[in-house]
Amino acid sequence: MNPYQLILKKRNGGVLSKDEIREFVLGFAQGTGVEDYQMAAWLMAVWYQGMNVEELSALTQAMIDSGDQLDLSCLPGVKVDKHSTGGVGDTTTLILAPLAAAAGATVAKMSGRGLGHTGGTLDKLESVPGLRTGLTGDEFIAQVKKIGCAVISQTGNLVPADGKMYALRDVTATVDSIPLIASSVMSKKLACGADCILLDVKYGRGAFMDTLDNARELARRMVDLGNHMGRRVRAVISDMDQPLGTMIGNALEVREAIEILRNERPGSALETVSVELAAHLLEMAKICPNLEKSRERVRELLVSGAGLKKLAEMFAAQGGDARVCDDVSYLPQAPKTVEVKAPRSGYVTSIHAQKIGLASTALGAGRVKKSDPIDPAVGIIMERRVGDAIEAGQPLAILHTQDKPEAIEEATRLILESIVIGDEKTAPRKLIEEVVE
Ligand code: URA
Ligand code: CA
Repeated sequence: MNPYQLILKKRNGGVLSKDEIREFVLGFAQGTGVEDYQMAAWLMAVWYQGMNVEELSALTQAMIDSGDQLDLSCLPGVKVDKHSTGGVGDTTTLILAPLAAAAGATVAKMSGRGLGHTGGTLDKLESVPGLRTGLTGDEFIAQVKKIGCAVISQTGNLVPADGKMYALRDVTATVDSIPLIASSVMSKKLACGADCILLDVKYGRGAFMDTLDNARELARRMVDLGNHMGRRVRAVISDMDQPLGTMIGNALEVREAIEILRNERPGSALETVSVELAAHLLEMAKICPNLEKSRERVRELLVSGAGLKKLAEMFAAQGGDARVCDDVSYLPQAPKTVEVKAPRSGYVTSIHAQKIGLASTALGAGRVKKSDPIDPAVGIIMERRVGDAIEAGQPLAILHTQDKPEAIEEATRLILESIVIGDEKTAPRKLIEEVVE
């Protein structure tokens, strides 16, 4: 293989063979014959020329083969997994994982950390006092065998090619390529070994994909890729123009998940989407015969408290203080609350999710760079959603914060900037726009 020739071929719009892609990707991942600058140039060629389905499968398989794969075959039941392309107030994992497990699905899940304006499930989980996400492979399997679910950080050397390629994409303006995102996400999901994979592709101003068309194409390509590789894969396209949950921040999002599993927020957007995603998982796993029956089953488990009980079991199994499920005051609490007041009366017509995420990061709930520490206690509670009425002076949001005037000022500015109040009541967008399978 001559890297120069493969870069040239892709640059000129040619189609690469499976073997060519494999040698190129493994040559880069293993440091044998493909240099960083050659991979960077090739990524840019892919950004311009795209990839056909065979090329995309070859790329994804080569990325998977650059490292270890998780073998879940020792676990009973149908193994289900869910992946969100990331958002703000997106706490669905903490709600649907225990609900799906309570219904009999096997949830052996690896999650990620937050970066920039988006939160990460691991950071949220670690706000529960004592809770560990760094389980060994053996601990992980033992816990799933015992209680049916675990949510942990990555174990083993999974898809090292992705880490190295992403680092180059990040500094060469090649992150926002649909085939590169699809292969990055799906290589990691496929390496985790689940039978059924549900993708929650977000679109809107808090998401990777800002338009519905782009979200649809990303969803289509990931579903085709997964099916091509022999897994049951489905995608929902859901709204991330305004934050999904009302609470943003780590312990606050755990609190909202607990309140939902206590059935204290019926009909809320986060509950609705979480129940819908859990229902899709049960249908995909053939635990229920159709989506309608799956929804009923999930609702029963939520109302009966079986989902909450499973969440408490999972917290305890991972060393966390499960009393938080009965009394959220055991979660870390910020010392101070500050209201962000509406500057005028009217209807909330839009809320810019990304700016709300950045406001939460400004308070210390998120990271600007990967190595930044986070504060589990701080964040934002949104008091209004799109379509709600408000009077001047009423709170739009409540900051949960340390006594840091500059952070409070910055977060307040971002929130006021992100919320538009108008005279007319506008209809909010659909929570789930469509399903791709
Ligand atoms: N998330 C990923 O894991 N990879 C991408 O390329 C983009 C988002
Ligand atoms: Ca994520």
